[in-house]
Amino acid sequence: MKKLCSLFVLILIFNINNIMAQNKAKVLVLIYSDNGGTYELAKEIAKGIESKDNATAVIKQVKESTNQKLKNIPIATVDELPNYDGIAFGSPVYFGNISTGMSEFLSKTVNLWTHHSLEGIPATVFMSAGSGAGKELAIQSFWNSLAVHGMVLVSNGIRGYEGINKSIPQGNTVLGVTSLNSLKDVERPTPDERQLAYLQGQNFAKISFALKDSTRKKEVVMEEKTKNFDEILKEKNIILPQVPKPAGNYQPFVRTGNLIFINQVALKEGKILNGGKLGVGVDEQQVKEATKVTMLNVLSVLKEAVNGDLSKVRQCVQLTGIFNTKDDYTKHADLMNVASDLVVEVFGEKGKHARATYGASSIPVNSSVEIQAIFEVE
Ligand SMILES: Cc1cc2nc3c(=O)[nH]c(=O)nc-3n(C[C@H](O)[C@H](O)[C@H](O)COP(=O)(O)O)c2cc1C
Repeated sequence: MKKLCSLFVLILIFNINNIMAQNKAKVLVLIYSDNGGTYELAKEIAKGIESKDNATAVIKQVKESTNQKLKNIPIATVDELPNYDGIAFGSPVYFGNISTGMSEFLSKTVNLWTHHSLEGIPATVFMSAGSGAGKELAIQSFWNSLAVHGMVLVSNGIRGYEGINKSIPQGNTVLGVTSLNSLKDVERPTPDERQLAYLQGQNFAKISFALKDSTRKKEVVMEEKTKNFDEILKEKNIILPQVPKPAGNYQPFVRTGNLIFINQVALKEGKILNGGKLGVGVDEQQVKEATKVTMLNVLSVLKEAVNGDLSKVRQCVQLTGIFNTKDDYTKHADLMNVASDLVVEVFGEKGKHARATYGASSIPVNSSVEIQAIFEVE
Protein backbone atom coordinates (compact mmCIF):
# COMPACT_ATOMS: atom_id res chain seq x y z
CA MET A 1 0.00 0.00 0.00
CA LYS A 2 2.85 2.32 1.00
CA LYS A 3 4.61 1.52 -2.30
CA LEU A 4 1.41 2.21 -4.23
CA CYS A 5 1.05 5.61 -2.51
CA SER A 6 4.65 6.60 -3.36
CA LEU A 7 4.08 5.59 -6.98
CA PHE A 8 0.91 7.69 -7.05
CA VAL A 9 2.78 10.72 -5.63
CA LEU A 10 5.57 10.26 -8.20
CA ILE A 11 3.06 10.13 -11.06
CA LEU A 12 1.34 13.23 -9.66
CA ILE A 13 4.62 15.16 -9.44
CA PHE A 14 5.54 14.06 -12.97
CA ASN A 15 2.16 15.24 -14.29
CA ILE A 16 2.31 18.56 -12.44
CA ASN A 17 5.82 19.16 -13.85
CA ASN A 18 4.55 18.33 -17.32
CA ILE A 19 1.61 20.71 -17.01
CA MET A 20 3.90 23.46 -15.70
CA ALA A 21 6.32 22.94 -18.60
CA GLN A 22 3.41 23.11 -21.05
CA ASN A 23 2.32 26.42 -19.52
CA LYS A 24 5.69 28.04 -19.99
CA ALA A 25 6.43 30.18 -23.01
CA LYS A 26 8.59 28.37 -25.56
CA VAL A 27 11.34 30.69 -26.76
CA LEU A 28 13.75 30.08 -29.63
CA VAL A 29 17.15 31.77 -29.48
CA LEU A 30 18.06 31.77 -33.15
CA ILE A 31 21.61 32.70 -34.09
CA TYR A 32 24.12 32.97 -36.85
CA SER A 33 27.73 33.26 -35.69
CA ASP A 34 31.17 33.13 -37.35
CA ASN A 35 33.51 33.18 -34.37
CA GLY A 36 31.25 32.38 -31.44
CA GLY A 37 30.72 35.90 -30.00
CA THR A 38 27.01 35.83 -30.80
CA TYR A 39 26.76 32.36 -29.25
CA GLU A 40 28.30 33.65 -26.00
CA LEU A 41 25.56 36.29 -25.81
CA ALA A 42 22.92 33.70 -26.78
CA LYS A 43 23.83 31.54 -23.78
CA GLU A 44 23.26 34.50 -21.43
CA ILE A 45 20.00 35.40 -23.17
CA ALA A 46 18.84 31.77 -22.73
CA LYS A 47 19.78 31.79 -19.04
CA GLY A 48 17.80 35.00 -18.57
CA ILE A 49 14.81 33.53 -20.41
CA GLU A 50 14.72 30.55 -18.05
CA SER A 51 15.50 32.53 -14.89
CA LYS A 52 11.92 33.18 -13.76
CA ASP A 53 10.54 29.76 -14.59
CA ASN A 54 7.96 31.20 -16.97
CA ALA A 55 9.74 30.18 -20.18
CA THR A 56 12.00 27.57 -21.72
CA ALA A 57 14.77 28.46 -24.16
CA VAL A 58 16.37 26.50 -26.96
CA ILE A 59 19.38 27.81 -28.87
CA LYS A 60 19.54 26.92 -32.56
CA GLN A 61 21.56 28.25 -35.49
CA VAL A 62 20.42 29.09 -38.98
CA LYS A 63 22.96 26.88 -40.73
CA GLU A 64 25.72 24.41 -40.03
CA SER A 65 29.03 25.78 -38.87
CA THR A 66 32.51 24.30 -39.17
CA ASN A 67 33.63 26.26 -36.10
CA GLN A 68 34.32 23.77 -33.29
CA LYS A 69 32.47 25.98 -30.77
CA LEU A 70 29.33 26.01 -32.89
CA LYS A 71 29.42 22.58 -34.47
CA ASN A 72 26.97 20.91 -32.11
CA ILE A 73 24.28 23.58 -32.03
CA PRO A 74 21.13 22.23 -33.71
CA ILE A 75 19.95 23.80 -36.96
CA ALA A 76 16.57 25.52 -37.10
CA THR A 77 14.21 25.15 -40.02
CA VAL A 78 12.09 27.99 -41.34
CA ASP A 79 8.91 25.93 -40.83
CA GLU A 80 9.38 25.62 -37.08
CA LEU A 81 9.45 29.37 -36.35
CA PRO A 82 5.66 29.81 -35.87
CA ASN A 83 5.70 27.09 -33.18
CA TYR A 84 7.43 29.39 -30.67
CA ASP A 85 5.94 31.95 -28.30
CA GLY A 86 8.92 34.24 -28.84
CA ILE A 87 12.11 34.38 -30.90
CA ALA A 88 15.35 36.07 -29.80
CA PHE A 89 17.47 36.69 -32.90
CA GLY A 90 21.27 36.96 -32.64
CA SER A 91 23.78 37.80 -35.37
CA PRO A 92 27.16 39.45 -35.94
CA VAL A 93 27.09 43.05 -37.20
CA TYR A 94 28.16 43.23 -40.84
CA PHE A 95 28.67 46.79 -42.08
CA GLY A 96 26.01 48.21 -39.77
CA ASN A 97 23.62 45.50 -40.89
CA ILE A 98 22.56 41.85 -40.40
CA SER A 99 25.15 39.18 -41.26
CA THR A 100 24.81 37.43 -44.60
CA GLY A 101 24.11 34.08 -42.89
CA MET A 102 21.13 35.45 -40.99
CA SER A 103 19.96 37.43 -44.00
CA GLU A 104 20.00 34.29 -46.16
CA PHE A 105 17.85 32.48 -43.60
CA LEU A 106 15.36 35.36 -43.39
CA SER A 107 15.08 35.41 -47.16
CA LYS A 108 13.62 31.90 -46.95
CA THR A 109 10.72 33.07 -44.75
CA VAL A 110 8.64 34.58 -47.57
CA ASN A 111 6.08 31.80 -47.28
CA LEU A 112 5.66 32.45 -43.54
CA TRP A 113 5.24 36.12 -44.33
CA THR A 114 2.52 35.64 -46.94
CA HIS A 115 0.69 33.33 -44.50
CA HIS A 116 1.02 35.89 -41.64
CA SER A 117 2.57 33.07 -39.63
CA LEU A 118 4.82 35.18 -37.39
CA GLU A 119 2.36 38.01 -36.79
CA GLY A 120 2.03 38.93 -33.10
CA ILE A 121 4.93 36.72 -31.99
CA PRO A 122 7.41 38.70 -29.84
CA ALA A 123 10.93 39.15 -31.22
CA THR A 124 14.06 40.63 -29.70
CA VAL A 125 17.50 41.15 -31.21
CA PHE A 126 21.05 40.96 -29.86
CA MET A 127 24.25 41.30 -31.88
CA SER A 128 27.95 40.71 -31.64
CA ALA A 129 29.93 43.64 -33.06
CA GLY A 130 33.64 44.31 -33.62
CA SER A 131 34.37 47.92 -32.70
CA GLY A 132 30.66 48.57 -32.33
CA ALA A 133 30.51 50.79 -35.43
CA GLY A 134 26.90 50.96 -36.58
CA LYS A 135 25.65 48.56 -33.91
CA GLU A 136 22.30 50.28 -33.37
CA LEU A 137 21.84 50.75 -37.10
CA ALA A 138 22.38 47.01 -37.44
CA ILE A 139 19.72 46.14 -34.87
CA GLN A 140 17.37 48.61 -36.48
CA SER A 141 17.86 47.08 -39.90
CA PHE A 142 17.24 43.66 -38.34
CA TRP A 143 14.01 45.07 -36.92
CA ASN A 144 12.89 46.10 -40.42
CA SER A 145 12.58 42.48 -41.50
CA LEU A 146 10.86 41.44 -38.27
CA ALA A 147 8.45 44.38 -38.51
CA VAL A 148 7.49 43.34 -42.03
CA HIS A 149 6.61 39.95 -40.52
CA GLY A 150 4.35 41.77 -38.03
CA MET A 151 6.34 40.53 -35.03
CA VAL A 152 6.13 42.39 -31.70
CA LEU A 153 9.53 44.06 -31.34
CA VAL A 154 10.81 43.98 -27.78
CA SER A 155 13.51 46.56 -27.03
CA ASN A 156 15.76 46.76 -23.99
CA GLY A 157 15.35 50.43 -23.07
CA ILE A 158 17.97 51.44 -20.52
CA ARG A 159 17.53 48.19 -18.59
CA GLY A 160 20.69 47.37 -16.61
CA TYR A 161 22.52 50.58 -17.60
CA GLU A 162 22.85 51.80 -14.02
CA GLY A 163 24.87 48.73 -13.03
CA ILE A 164 27.48 48.68 -15.81
CA ASN A 165 31.11 49.80 -15.64
CA LYS A 166 31.14 53.10 -17.51
CA SER A 167 34.92 53.47 -17.67
CA ILE A 168 35.13 51.07 -20.65
CA PRO A 169 33.02 50.92 -23.83
CA GLN A 170 30.11 48.52 -23.39
CA GLY A 171 27.64 47.05 -25.86
CA ASN A 172 24.50 48.41 -24.27
CA THR A 173 21.94 49.86 -26.69
CA VAL A 174 18.30 50.71 -26.08
CA LEU A 175 17.26 48.30 -28.83
CA GLY A 176 19.11 45.22 -27.62
CA VAL A 177 22.45 44.13 -26.22
CA THR A 178 25.62 43.96 -28.31
CA SER A 179 29.20 43.00 -27.51
CA LEU A 180 32.24 44.95 -28.74
CA ASN A 181 34.36 41.95 -29.57
CA SER A 182 37.34 43.62 -31.20
CA LEU A 183 37.99 45.80 -28.13
CA LYS A 184 40.21 43.39 -26.23
CA ASP A 185 40.87 45.61 -23.20
CA VAL A 186 38.78 43.06 -21.32
CA GLU A 187 37.43 39.69 -22.31
CA ARG A 188 34.31 39.96 -24.50
CA PRO A 189 31.46 39.71 -23.87
CA THR A 190 32.32 41.64 -20.70
CA PRO A 191 30.61 40.57 -17.47
CA ASP A 192 28.35 43.62 -17.93
CA GLU A 193 27.45 42.70 -21.51
CA ARG A 194 26.62 39.20 -20.28
CA GLN A 195 24.46 40.67 -17.51
CA LEU A 196 22.65 42.92 -20.00
CA ALA A 197 21.98 39.88 -22.19
CA TYR A 198 20.68 38.00 -19.17
CA LEU A 199 18.31 40.86 -18.34
CA GLN A 200 17.19 41.09 -21.97
CA GLY A 201 16.36 37.38 -21.90
CA GLN A 202 14.50 37.73 -18.62
CA ASN A 203 12.40 40.62 -19.88
CA PHE A 204 11.77 38.86 -23.17
CA ALA A 205 10.49 35.77 -21.35
CA LYS A 206 8.04 37.97 -19.42
CA ILE A 207 6.61 39.45 -22.62
CA SER A 208 6.55 36.08 -24.43
CA PHE A 209 4.75 34.50 -21.50
CA ALA A 210 2.20 37.33 -21.30
CA LEU A 211 1.42 37.16 -25.02
CA LYS A 212 1.65 33.40 -25.22
CA ASP A 213 -1.95 32.53 -25.99
CA SER A 214 -2.92 35.86 -27.53
CA THR A 215 -2.16 34.88 -31.10
CA ARG A 216 -3.73 31.97 -32.84
CA LYS A 217 -0.90 29.89 -34.18
CA LYS A 218 -1.15 29.92 -37.92
CA GLU A 219 -1.02 26.65 -39.79
CA VAL A 220 1.98 26.85 -42.03
CA VAL A 221 1.14 25.59 -45.42
CA MET A 222 4.39 25.33 -47.24
CA GLU A 223 3.72 25.56 -50.97
CA GLU A 224 6.61 23.38 -51.83
CA LYS A 225 8.15 21.32 -49.04
CA THR A 226 11.91 21.15 -49.33
CA LYS A 227 12.39 18.32 -51.70
CA ASN A 228 15.22 15.98 -52.20
CA PHE A 229 15.38 16.24 -55.96
CA ASP A 230 17.65 13.25 -56.36
CA GLU A 231 14.85 11.14 -54.85
CA ILE A 232 12.23 12.80 -57.06
CA LEU A 233 14.28 12.11 -60.18
CA LYS A 234 14.80 8.51 -59.08
CA GLU A 235 11.07 8.03 -58.33
CA LYS A 236 10.19 9.37 -61.77
CA ASN A 237 12.89 7.35 -63.44
CA ILE A 238 14.53 10.47 -64.84
CA ILE A 239 18.26 10.01 -65.38
CA LEU A 240 20.21 13.18 -65.98
CA PRO A 241 23.05 12.81 -68.49
CA GLN A 242 26.59 14.14 -68.04
CA VAL A 243 26.83 17.85 -68.68
CA PRO A 244 27.59 18.24 -72.41
CA LYS A 245 30.92 19.94 -73.09
CA PRO A 246 30.78 23.28 -74.93
CA ALA A 247 31.72 22.98 -78.61
CA GLY A 248 33.19 26.50 -78.80
CA ASN A 249 34.21 29.54 -76.84
CA TYR A 250 31.17 29.71 -74.57
CA GLN A 251 29.91 28.36 -71.21
CA PRO A 252 27.29 25.61 -70.61
CA PHE A 253 25.48 28.23 -68.52
CA VAL A 254 25.81 31.82 -67.39
CA ARG A 255 24.47 33.13 -64.11
CA THR A 256 23.63 36.79 -63.78
CA GLY A 257 22.05 37.79 -60.48
CA ASN A 258 19.57 35.04 -59.69
CA LEU A 259 19.00 34.06 -63.31
CA ILE A 260 20.64 31.14 -65.09
CA PHE A 261 20.76 31.03 -68.89
CA ILE A 262 21.21 27.69 -70.68
CA ASN A 263 21.11 26.58 -74.35
CA GLN A 264 21.23 22.95 -75.41
CA VAL A 265 20.75 20.70 -78.45
CA ALA A 266 19.91 16.97 -78.67
CA LEU A 267 23.37 15.64 -77.82
CA LYS A 268 23.31 12.15 -76.32
CA GLU A 269 26.56 10.42 -75.40
CA GLY A 270 28.51 12.74 -77.69
CA LYS A 271 26.24 12.28 -80.76
CA ILE A 272 23.14 14.08 -81.98
CA LEU A 273 20.02 11.95 -81.46
CA ASN A 274 17.52 11.92 -84.36
CA GLY A 275 19.14 14.83 -86.20
CA GLY A 276 17.78 16.45 -89.36
CA LYS A 277 14.75 18.32 -90.64
CA LEU A 278 11.29 17.26 -89.50
CA GLY A 279 9.42 15.64 -92.38
CA VAL A 280 12.61 15.04 -94.34
CA GLY A 281 15.05 12.98 -92.27
CA VAL A 282 13.01 12.56 -89.06
CA ASP A 283 9.36 12.27 -88.03
CA GLU A 284 7.47 13.95 -85.16
CA GLN A 285 8.00 11.07 -82.77
CA GLN A 286 11.75 11.21 -83.31
CA VAL A 287 11.84 14.98 -82.80
CA LYS A 288 9.90 14.52 -79.54
CA GLU A 289 12.55 12.03 -78.38
CA ALA A 290 15.25 14.53 -79.34
CA THR A 291 13.35 17.24 -77.43
CA LYS A 292 13.32 15.11 -74.29
CA VAL A 293 17.07 14.48 -74.60
CA THR A 294 17.65 18.21 -75.09
CA MET A 295 15.59 19.10 -72.01
CA LEU A 296 17.46 16.50 -69.94
CA ASN A 297 20.70 18.19 -71.03
CA VAL A 298 19.26 21.52 -69.89
CA LEU A 299 18.38 20.04 -66.48
CA SER A 300 21.79 18.48 -66.06
CA VAL A 301 23.49 21.83 -66.77
CA LEU A 302 21.04 23.50 -64.38
CA LYS A 303 22.00 21.00 -61.66
CA GLU A 304 25.64 21.89 -62.15
CA ALA A 305 24.77 25.59 -62.00
CA VAL A 306 23.18 25.15 -58.53
CA ASN A 307 26.06 22.98 -57.28
CA GLY A 308 23.98 19.81 -57.40
CA ASP A 309 21.09 21.12 -55.28
CA LEU A 310 18.00 21.49 -57.47
CA SER A 311 15.96 22.66 -54.45
CA LYS A 312 17.68 26.01 -55.04
CA VAL A 313 15.58 26.48 -58.18
CA ARG A 314 12.85 29.06 -57.57
CA GLN A 315 11.22 29.03 -60.97
CA CYS A 316 11.61 27.93 -64.54
CA VAL A 317 11.10 31.39 -66.05
CA GLN A 318 11.07 30.72 -69.79
CA LEU A 319 11.70 27.98 -72.34
CA THR A 320 12.22 28.64 -76.02
CA GLY A 321 12.04 25.67 -78.38
CA ILE A 322 13.53 25.97 -81.86
CA PHE A 323 12.77 23.16 -84.30
CA ASN A 324 14.29 22.34 -87.65
CA THR A 325 11.09 22.31 -89.73
CA LYS A 326 9.80 22.97 -93.24
CA ASP A 327 8.29 26.42 -93.88
CA ASP A 328 4.67 25.27 -93.68
CA TYR A 329 4.98 23.34 -90.37
CA THR A 330 2.74 24.64 -87.56
CA LYS A 331 2.69 22.10 -84.71
CA HIS A 332 5.81 23.29 -82.84
CA ALA A 333 3.81 23.53 -79.59
CA ASP A 334 3.10 19.77 -79.61
CA LEU A 335 6.80 19.03 -79.92
CA MET A 336 7.74 21.47 -77.19
CA ASN A 337 5.17 20.05 -74.75
CA VAL A 338 7.60 17.18 -74.14
CA ALA A 339 10.09 19.65 -72.63
CA SER A 340 7.45 21.64 -70.76
CA ASP A 341 5.89 18.50 -69.26
CA LEU A 342 9.28 17.26 -68.12
CA VAL A 343 10.20 20.47 -66.30
CA VAL A 344 6.77 20.59 -64.58
CA GLU A 345 7.08 16.92 -63.66
CA VAL A 346 10.35 17.66 -61.88
CA PHE A 347 9.59 21.05 -60.29
CA GLY A 348 5.79 21.14 -59.92
CA GLU A 349 4.49 24.74 -59.66
CA LYS A 350 8.02 26.07 -59.88
CA GLY A 351 8.36 24.37 -63.24
CA LYS A 352 5.56 26.39 -64.87
CA HIS A 353 7.09 28.78 -67.36
CA ALA A 354 6.51 31.25 -70.17
CA ARG A 355 7.27 29.72 -73.55
CA ALA A 356 8.10 30.46 -77.16
CA THR A 357 8.51 28.02 -80.03
CA TYR A 358 9.43 28.50 -83.65
CA GLY A 359 10.81 26.79 -86.70
CA ALA A 360 14.26 27.29 -88.19
CA SER A 361 15.62 26.26 -91.60
CA SER A 362 18.62 24.66 -89.90
CA ILE A 363 20.05 24.13 -86.43
CA PRO A 364 23.74 23.73 -85.50
CA VAL A 365 25.28 20.24 -85.64
CA ASN A 366 22.17 19.03 -87.53
CA SER A 367 20.12 18.79 -84.32
CA SER A 368 16.38 18.72 -84.98
CA VAL A 369 15.81 20.88 -81.87
CA GLU A 370 17.46 23.49 -79.68
CA ILE A 371 16.13 24.66 -76.30
CA GLN A 372 16.96 27.94 -74.63
CA ALA A 373 16.07 28.07 -70.93
CA ILE A 374 16.03 30.70 -68.21
CA PHE A 375 15.72 29.68 -64.54
CA GLU A 376 15.52 31.78 -61.39
CA VAL A 377 17.52 30.33 -58.50
CA GLU A 378 18.32 31.19 -54.86
C1 LIG B 1 31.78 41.46 -43.42
C2 LIG B 1 31.93 41.97 -42.01
C3 LIG B 1 31.47 43.21 -41.70
C4 LIG B 1 31.59 43.69 -40.39
N1 LIG B 1 31.09 44.92 -40.10
C5 LIG B 1 31.15 45.36 -38.83
C6 LIG B 1 30.58 46.64 -38.48
O1 LIG B 1 30.01 47.35 -39.31
N2 LIG B 1 30.67 47.04 -37.20
C7 LIG B 1 31.28 46.29 -36.24
O2 LIG B 1 31.34 46.71 -35.09
N3 LIG B 1 31.81 45.07 -36.54
C8 LIG B 1 31.76 44.60 -37.80
N4 LIG B 1 32.27 43.36 -38.11
C9 LIG B 1 32.85 42.54 -37.04
C10 LIG B 1 31.88 41.48 -36.50
O3 LIG B 1 30.64 42.07 -36.21
C11 LIG B 1 32.47 40.88 -35.23
O4 LIG B 1 33.66 40.21 -35.56
C12 LIG B 1 31.53 39.96 -34.49
O5 LIG B 1 32.01 39.80 -33.20
C13 LIG B 1 31.40 38.59 -35.11
O6 LIG B 1 30.44 37.86 -34.37
P1 LIG B 1 30.61 36.30 -34.12
O7 LIG B 1 31.77 36.15 -33.14
O8 LIG B 1 29.33 35.82 -33.58
O9 LIG B 1 30.95 35.70 -35.44
C14 LIG B 1 32.16 42.88 -39.39
C15 LIG B 1 32.64 41.60 -39.73
C16 LIG B 1 32.51 41.15 -41.03
C17 LIG B 1 32.98 39.75 -41.36
